[in-house]
Amino acid sequence: MDKDFCKILVSEEETKEICKRLGEQISKDYAGKKLYLVSVLKGAVVFMADLMRNITCDCEIDFMAVSSYSGTKTTGVVKFKKDLDIDPDGKDILIVEDILDSGVTLSYLKNVLLQRNANSIKVCAFLDKPTNHKADITADYVGKVVPDEFVVGYGLDYDEKYRNLPYVAVLAPEVYGGK
Ligand code: IMP
Ligand code: MG
Repeated sequence: MDKDFCKILVSEEETKEICKRLGEQISKDYAGKKLYLVSVLKGAVVFMADLMRNITCDCEIDFMAVSSYSGTKTTGVVKFKKDLDIDPDGKDILIVEDILDSGVTLSYLKNVLLQRNANSIKVCAFLDKPTNHKADITADYVGKVVPDEFVVGYGLDYDEKYRNLPYVAVLAPEVYGGK
């Protein structure tokens, strides 16, 4: 393992198992409906690409971009950097996220989509750090529950690095100057 990481939390094989399990569940739950998968850039792109190939119901994809992070710390203020192309009005939307951490980002996005009259909004998070939730939000679909450690890979970054790792690893505190 690279010296930048303390341990591997989700192996490449496990990412595949997770996408298969969640894809099957989502396909069952949305059978007969048209599903709009909305992914949050950039962290969720890898998960979105794998998850959508395990979904068998009729679906479309779209992307939005927000930011609330600087390095390993959340600023707590969510900024909209790219809006959706689709109009959420009347649509069944599944927000696909890389990780539910404080929950500030997802609760903000859920509210925005609700105000735009989506028919339903659910959340699918690849990782969940439940001990860190601050906003009142839970994910409807969770890939894996992880401890409160800063993780990278499989789309997740530290200052834009490590997104291309095919697995999820805990970043060594020396790398970001943590304890
Ligand atoms: P939240 O608003 O605190 O739930 O965090 C939302 C976003 O912060 C996630 O979608 C990630 O992009 C980023 N984030 C949170 N925790 C981590 C982490 O451990 N590693 C990398 N990015 C993270
Ligand atoms: Mg993200």
